[in-house]
Amino acid sequence: MGNINDVADLSTEGEIAVLTLNSPPVNALSAPVREGIFEGIKKAAADSAVKAIVLICDGRTFIAGADITEFGKKPTGPSLFDAQDMIENASVPVIAAIHGTALGGGLEVALTCHYRVAVPSAKCGLPEVNLGLLPGAGGTQRLPRIVGPEKALEMVTTGQHVPAKKCLEMGLVDELAEEGKLREGAIAFAKKVVAENRPLKKVREMNGKVEAARGKPEIFENFRKSIARKTRGFLAPEYNIQCIEAAVNKPFDEGIKVERELFTKLVTGEQSAAQRHVFFAERQVWKVPGIDKDTKRIPIEKVGIIGAGTMGGGISMNFANAGIPVTIVERDQAPLDKGLATIRKNYENTAKKGRISMDDVEKRTGLIQGTTDMKALADCDLVIEAVFENMDVKQDIFRQLDEICKPGAILATNTSALDIDEIASVTKRPEAVIGLHFFSPANVMRLLEVVRADKTSKEVIATSMDLAKKIGKIAALVGVCPGFVGNRILAQRQREANKLILEGAMPWDVDRVLYDFGLPMGPFAMSDLAGLDLGWRKENSKGETIRDVLCEMDRRGQKTGAGFYDYDENRKATPSKIVEDIIKDFSEKKQIQRRDISDQEILERCVYPMINEGFKILEEGKAIRASDIDIVWINGYGWPVYRGGPMYYGEKIVGLDKVLAKMQEFQKAHGDDFEPAALLEKAVKEGKSLSELGY
Ligand code: 3HC
Ligand code: NAI
Repeated sequence: MGNINDVADLSTEGEIAVLTLNSPPVNALSAPVREGIFEGIKKAAADSAVKAIVLICDGRTFIAGADITEFGKKPTGPSLFDAQDMIENASVPVIAAIHGTALGGGLEVALTCHYRVAVPSAKCGLPEVNLGLLPGAGGTQRLPRIVGPEKALEMVTTGQHVPAKKCLEMGLVDELAEEGKLREGAIAFAKKVVAENRPLKKVREMNGKVEAARGKPEIFENFRKSIARKTRGFLAPEYNIQCIEAAVNKPFDEGIKVERELFTKLVTGEQSAAQRHVFFAERQVWKVPGIDKDTKRIPIEKVGIIGAGTMGGGISMNFANAGIPVTIVERDQAPLDKGLATIRKNYENTAKKGRISMDDVEKRTGLIQGTTDMKALADCDLVIEAVFENMDVKQDIFRQLDEICKPGAILATNTSALDIDEIASVTKRPEAVIGLHFFSPANVMRLLEVVRADKTSKEVIATSMDLAKKIGKIAALVGVCPGFVGNRILAQRQREANKLILEGAMPWDVDRVLYDFGLPMGPFAMSDLAGLDLGWRKENSKGETIRDVLCEMDRRGQKTGAGFYDYDENRKATPSKIVEDIIKDFSEKKQIQRRDISDQEILERCVYPMINEGFKILEEGKAIRASDIDIVWINGYGWPVYRGGPMYYGEKIVGLDKVLAKMQEFQKAHGDDFEPAALLEKAVKEGKSLSELGY
């Protein structure tokens, strides 16, 4: 038999042919892989000595889907449909042998096979929705024919990876093979199929489950309602639902037509392009120039946290969740007890929701020890300081850490705005000092800004990035500057939002525009949620800002039932007439002539300065690449994934020339807050993309 091409090999074991694909890293369905399947199955089936064919993959996984890098390019060689037809119409049974993940087009290939065998650790799924797509190779028509429309709806709209055992229960997999012995297991299964003369089972012909759901539109309406909040703004979930509806209501070939049509709309659309950008950005963000697998890592077996407040508690939970013991140090017993009690309560709440067991609660809280003695940190491999945001307090702690901690330990700060070089300067080991900027609530938010200071060593950076992955975060490496990357960009938006309400917009106008853009909430709703009195002191308040006045009136946000908005007992917000009058009064006092401000101006005034700031961050070298900034804003601030992040949005959706032109126009009208970044001007002048400029 032998080689079919560079990525496919055909061998035989008695009367069973084995077609092995090997296209690292994930056996994605590139042109050679499609050709390998097409030609391999054709050749095997043409051999009269072959009674069944096993389709298996080398390397870490079964086919993980279409080759995402090929989207938008002209396809060559046999199409995926050609390869699938070759399998489904083969004269002998074809058995998919699955390890790792059978995802997207990979599962769709397996669904055209007549049988599927998997090892217990394997997982199957149709995750296209996460790329702004739908399964475009028959997945939406075949999956519900096996698992039924309800389960199919859930799988295609979440993209979940379903474990093999569950797949077996659902009929998606016919048999489990012993772990590590997939090839033998699949061949044995194939022999059984031959010996028992089992039929060539075609999923397209299994109509029972879809027919049973016909005439029950409520299945789909209820499902739509149940996911509406989570999927707001995304096109792909709705299109996926329409395909499953077609599977239920139309014959197979008609359903395929619907799938094809909707797939084409999505794959050529703006959202999927943005979501594919995010897929690659999420993988790029881990890559740090000058650091590779040979860079030394510091083993982290014990972590110290200083401060058991809002952040210290949440940060501790991350490590306990990953099985790493934590010692928390507080200045007094009372805040320590309070902090530890909060951690326990958080875990118990999670257990109540059924996400962890009570056993887990005990295990995890058992990993967190509290003390008021800094010396307990002597044997920690990493210490993270999360005390008050005050340079003197932090420097004092780092002086002590320098004395107490063992050589080689990493000394990290969770400061959100202070200069980490200044903090490092009080130690004799600035190379060990780094910023680990967690976001609140630290046990929930996925983003971690790893802040490299001037002297931070490569080992400390490499270890921090690895550790972030271990505790389930997505980490972006950034540099020291006010607000680092995320908050520095946020400051631009906040400034403009506050100016806009003095010029003529109302807080609810600004919030509505940003919410409709896809952000989880607007700046004023966010302030009400966080509390307007965060960092505000009555004795210092001079009534000079709208916030001062609102706080003085005890309108401190949701917690006092009123802030920029009025709140009812269910915390439902309504625009406030009182606030409206206060704002108008402020405009008058500041002699600002209020005017009508369009939604478009609100959006451009809030968002373009953010993009511009991203350019400044890049030209100052405070982020490695533009897509890292996108990752920060998507994971730390809820920027809508379907708009790709602020930098992608500026470049690929709006266009840099338009962003620049607007910044110049705003600069003329409103001053130097809108001064364009030199790098933005350069990109437009030279007609170059950010990636062409090395970002
Ligand atoms: N196409 C092209 N490249 C891919 C790819 C794909 N489908 N899937 C992964 N890769 C690349 C990654 O970019 C990465 O490249 P890099 O090393 O240069 O950064 C490399 O493969 C390894 O990927 P991961 O770092 O993600 O490896 P993991 O082992 O952590 O995860 C995985 C493996 C679970 C398979 C994960 O890569 C994944 O989820 N891949 C995407 C799966 C997917 O979305 N499939 C559907 C594609 S769309 C489709 O099939 C359309 C069809 O319906 C017509
Ligand atoms: P917090 O006020 O809730 O907690 C600080 C804790 O530190 C208090 O419990 C206090 O008793 C303790 N502490 C103070 N001095 C100490 C000392 N010398 N030794 C031991 N413990 C001491 O503050 P929060 O919100 O947890 O913030 C901590 C740090 O995290 C700050 O630097 C803040 O800027 C930063 N941060 C805060 C975020 C937030 O949303 N709250 C987000 C990201 C960073």
